[in-house]
Amino acid sequence: MYTAKMPTFVVVAQEQLLDLKSQALVSFLPQNFAFDAIEVAESYCPALKSFFAQDDFTGKRDEIIIIPVVEKNIQWLVFAGLGKESIDIEVYRRALVSVIKKMQRKNIASLTVVLPPASLFGVSPMYLAEQTAIIGMLASYAFDEYLTNEHAKFKQNLSITLVTTKADLDEVNTGVAKGTIIGQAANRVRHWIDLPPCKLTPVELADKAQTIAKEFDLGCTIFSESEIIHMGMGGLAGVSSGSDQDCKLVILEYKAARADAPTIAFVGKGITFDSGGLSIKPAEGMETMKEDMSGAAAVIGTMQAIAQLKPDVNVIGITPLSENMPSGKAAKPGDIVRFYNGKTGEILNIDAEGRLILADALSYAVKHFKLAALVDIATLTGLCHHFFGPFYSALCCNNPALANKIQAASKISGERVWLLPHDRDYKQAVKSKVADVKNIGSKAIKSGTITAAWFLEHFVDDVPWAHLDIAGAAYSVPLSYYSDGATGVGVRLLVELALNWQ
Ligand code: BES
Ligand code: ZN
Ligand code: ZN
Repeated sequence: MYTAKMPTFVVVAQEQLLDLKSQALVSFLPQNFAFDAIEVAESYCPALKSFFAQDDFTGKRDEIIIIPVVEKNIQWLVFAGLGKESIDIEVYRRALVSVIKKMQRKNIASLTVVLPPASLFGVSPMYLAEQTAIIGMLASYAFDEYLTNEHAKFKQNLSITLVTTKADLDEVNTGVAKGTIIGQAANRVRHWIDLPPCKLTPVELADKAQTIAKEFDLGCTIFSESEIIHMGMGGLAGVSSGSDQDCKLVILEYKAARADAPTIAFVGKGITFDSGGLSIKPAEGMETMKEDMSGAAAVIGTMQAIAQLKPDVNVIGITPLSENMPSGKAAKPGDIVRFYNGKTGEILNIDAEGRLILADALSYAVKHFKLAALVDIATLTGLCHHFFGPFYSALCCNNPALANKIQAASKISGERVWLLPHDRDYKQAVKSKVADVKNIGSKAIKSGTITAAWFLEHFVDDVPWAHLDIAGAAYSVPLSYYSDGATGVGVRLLVELALNWQ
């Protein structure tokens, strides 16, 4: 069972502030703020100005001051600086995380957070509240179920009271409800990724998808390994052949209320462990390869959030799930497989397995649904990790309008993407002499992240399609709102893409 300790949120109007009981009262201040903006805080601590002066606190970005107060309602006053005008919402996200983490270290269980004016960031109060809830959730995630020392475990469920103006109360409540759904989905995804690969096999992940489908009323079809072989999915079956675990193909379906709503599909790479197969990885490269199902997890989590947020677009979530293991039955370099759309592929490196399972899943998506867009998400290439590090996902796209939509969703969600070139010139890199396509690029053309997308392009027909390579951003990202392991990247982005679909 997933026992995440996520914060709970309550929203109240400003007028109630003085009656609120919590361990800490948190305010966010732009640089050179006016003191009358924090009159309430001054009533708790008349010496506030001298504390600020002593610490040289002026509201600069990254500044935080924590002041103890002897008051029956509050124990700590916390102020976080936001820096100068036209403040990016990301500055607020990070300031909020810093505050939450500092409070957690003090074992504080209840916070009152005065929401700053949304106009400071040029956003709506609803969006500010949504981001507050999401970041509160992300910051509170920990993977500690295997720690037997209770002291080493993450401590408490944080309860956060958000204070806003009377006029914004409804909007803020709506934003918090939405953010809570997104944050819960992202943390659930992180938990699946963080689970050890012996505990999260393709069968287990398919079971989790089915449970979510039942819980949130999504359509759900799951194909077994024998059905996958029978259907002619030679990529997925070929990758799975080396493993003792059965592969699965999961299809989740959300239907919008409107009968004539367009349909979009999300396809996520679900390799629950990538050893490299017979093209085996060095030990170090394998250490984190339980993360290789991050794309699939993000798609399943996104479907959970979508089922609750009910966008005006039909959404299909497809996840090919497999292990990539060496054995006497494993696919060999030199093998040729036939994919679900009839095309053939030469396998030259079985460590480039992600594109093989995605080929069948993408083919399935374009054959069975009339799609306005198709987006795949995958920890696909080590090169992507090397190039962007952990902070960006690569975006490859055959359709400028879709690329724009994804970039807009990236801006809203805070999950950064970078558009790579997708010129046809790169396509020759994956041309095979003995099959329609080969699963590695060419020494002359290099650019392995871009050429991997050109491999996938063989399976999307004429559908507007985007490929997200999350190899760097899925795991071990040194950003304050993530802890050591999984980030759940993709959930925030794909949910916003669906919600803003027009
Ligand atoms: N799962 C890996 C890519 C990866 C690397 C994800 C690091 C996350 C962090 C993928 O299956 C892989 O091994 N790709 C190969 C492809 C190559 C053999 C063409 C790679 O990038 O080395
Ligand atoms: Zn691999
Ligand atoms: Zn892989």
